[in-house]
Parts: sequence; C-alpha cells; structure tokens
Amino acid sequence: MASKILVTGGAGFIGSHTVVALQQAGYDALILDNLCNSSVDVVDRIARITGARADFIEGDIRDAALLKRLFAQHDISAVLHFAGLKAVGESTRLPLAYYDNNVHGSTCLLQAMREAEVRSFVFSSSATVYGDPQKLPLVESHPRSATNPYGHSKLVVEDILESVHRSEPGWRIARLRYFNPVGAHPSGLIGEAPQGVPNNLMPYVAQVASGQRPCLQVFGSDYDTPDGTGVRDYIHVMDLAQGHVAALRHCLQSEGEMLTVNLGTGTGYSVLQMIKAFEEASGRTIAYEVAARRPGDIAACWADTTLAWKALGWRAEKGIADMCRDAWRWESGRSQ
Ligand code: NAD
Ligand code: WQD
Repeated sequence: MASKILVTGGAGFIGSHTVVALQQAGYDALILDNLCNSSVDVVDRIARITGARADFIEGDIRDAALLKRLFAQHDISAVLHFAGLKAVGESTRLPLAYYDNNVHGSTCLLQAMREAEVRSFVFSSSATVYGDPQKLPLVESHPRSATNPYGHSKLVVEDILESVHRSEPGWRIARLRYFNPVGAHPSGLIGEAPQGVPNNLMPYVAQVASGQRPCLQVFGSDYDTPDGTGVRDYIHVMDLAQGHVAALRHCLQSEGEMLTVNLGTGTGYSVLQMIKAFEEASGRTIAYEVAARRPGDIAACWADTTLAWKALGWRAEKGIADMCRDAWRWESGRSQ
C-alpha cells in the first residue's frame, strides 16, 4: 500500500491547487471534502491537469467514525488541513458554525491522527491572526489578535497545535500563515469559484471584467497608503501550493518540530494597482467607484518572507501580472 497525503478540503480553492502540486512532486493525494463550498468536478479537472486521479472521499472532518475508517484503510503519512469556513462577514453572523467547523473539526482530525499514530500536520492559518499590524513587514513573532470569529478560530487552532506539540514533541507541525491567495492554475481548469457575491477583491474584479457585475466598490480611498486604498500581499495560488509541498517535505524530514511561517511575496499592492493590473491582463475596463471603508479592514499588510526562505527554501515566484492573467483565464473560461 503506497503512502498517501490526506488533503482535507482538497476540492476547494487552495486545496485543489495544492493537490496538483503534490501529485507533480510525486506524492499520492487522498482528498476528504464535504463539498460545502466546492464541487466534485474539481477532482476530474485535477486529473486532467496531472494525468493522475486523486482518491476522493466525500465526507466531513467532524465524522469521527469516517476518519477512523479512513486512517485504517489507507497508509497516510501526513495531513494537509485546508477544510474549513473562511468568510469573515459570515463568521460574525454564524459564529457557532465557524467554531464548530474550524475548531471542533480540527480537534476531531487531530484526535483521529493521534489514534492512528500519524503525526505530520500542515495547517492553513492566515495573516488575519496578526490583527492590525503594528509594524510592517509582518514577522512571525508579531503579536496576534482577532477581531472576528473566523480570525479567532484560526488563533485557537494555532494554540491547540502548540499544546499538542508540547504534550508530544514527536508531532511535526507547520502552521502556514497565508497572505492574500489569488489567481488560478495556468491551464484555466481550476480556480476560485465563490458562491454568490464574492467577498474578496480579486474574484469581484474578475466578475466585473467578465460583465457579471457592473461595478466594483473600492472600500476606502483615505487610508494612510500611497494612493489611499488598501494594500495587501497578493500571492499566486500555485506559489502557495508549492509552499505546501516545501512545508510537507520539511515536516516529513524533521524529528518533531513546530514551524510557523508566513506564505506571502513580501510586496504589497493597492486596490487601484490591482485594478490596473487586471485591466492590462484582461484588456477590459474595470468600472469602479469609491465607497466607504469596510468595517474591520486594515490599511496595509505584507509579509516578511525571510523565514520561509530560511526554513523551507521556498519563495514566491509569480507577480501580479501572472496572478491577473491566470485569474482572468479561469474567469473568462467559466463565464462563456
Ligand atoms: P475553500 O472554501 O475554497 O476550500 C475549503 C474546502 O473545505 C471546500 O472545498 C469545502 O467544501 C471544504 N470543507 C469545509 N468544511 C468542511 C468539513 N467540515 N469537512 C470536510 N470538508 C470541508 O477555501 P480556500 O480558500 O481553499 O481555503 C482553504 C483554507 O485556507 C481554509 O482553512 C481557509 O480558512 C484558509 N485560508 C484561506 C485564505 C483565502 O483567502 N482563501 C487565506 C488564509 C487562509
Ligand atoms: C483586499 C483589499 C479591501 C473587496 C480577507 C480576509 C483574510 C484572508 C484573506 C482568510 C482590501 C479591498 C475588497 C471589494 C475592495 N482570508 N476590497 N472592494 O480583507 O485582505 O483579507 O481574505 O484567511 O482573513 O479578511 O482581502 O480580498 O477581501 O480585500 O475595495 O469589493 O481589497 O478593502 O483593501 P482581505 P480582500
């Protein structure tokens, strides 16, 4: 029985791109996803890209009996844990759903791993755990805080992982703090598929470019940034996927370690710069209007990438032109 990497949430945006990168790096992936925010077609599309079909199980990370069976039936060497809910606004309306899925879901998974004696775990954390930055670029030692249940759920899981590692130092854990993942696989076969009105900038811009939405609202133009609009560290999802392969390799080779690392590019771009880059990539005009600031938004945020390079030998390679080109190829293919 060949050993596999269990990828929870592997049909979702970041998980699916990571499955592609895993397969291309020679790993076998087993996807567990309840499809609450994705579609099973993604598994076929991954196979079209890589030529290899990942095993897929439709199910929930909170289903203890399913997890027990899954760890008994497959030789799993590590878990990449993407499954969870991720909409900040929704989390303030439905906090219990967020804590149940993101926190309880993670403890169910860790419990099943412990029973099956699988001790390598890569966790999708977020730059949201830094709260409002006190100093840029953000280093991993920056104080953490959360202003909404989604962010708090990430903070709590980070702390749970710390306790787990302290209790049994043989655990090999990577807590990866993503900045703003965007773009799509260059094939145009997989990408981000938000349900309803997109919450995030890039998919919204893409839908304005394709004519599905009339106009982008730019949330605030009076921030203390060069052009007054919010600045973020956008990272191509395939670079992020490669970061996971690097983190997985690192975990599998370590004797037992707890690594916390930023996955970003180290460069921030404003909303207006992203609009311009998308116009250039798509050849379309993006209609926009300046609106009020979005509650809870910060002015600017970008990563210090020193540790990612030092610990993982990984750094992002793609720029915003690649991100916009691939996001546009995906969006224009979908909306035809
Ligand atoms: P996504 O919604 O596209 O993917 C999550 C996947 O998990 C979906 O396919 C969904 O169906 C599945 N899922 C949700 N709950 C589940 C459960 N209980 N059991 C099994 N499957 C379940 O989101 P994404 O953008 O790919 O994000 C992946 C992870 O990265 C999440 O944990 C998210 O919080 C984190 N993250 C995302 C971003 C971002 O901007 N996209 C930034 C930082 C961190
Ligand atoms: C980017 C910039 C907005 C939409 C969120 C989560 C964070 C993480 C990533 C998971 C900001 C502006 C946006 C729009 C706009 N997710 N904007 N008009 O807020 O940095 O991060 O996603 O962990 O936790 O909070 O990303 O893409 O929503 O916004 O002007 O319609 O675009 O104000 O400056 P954000 P975003």
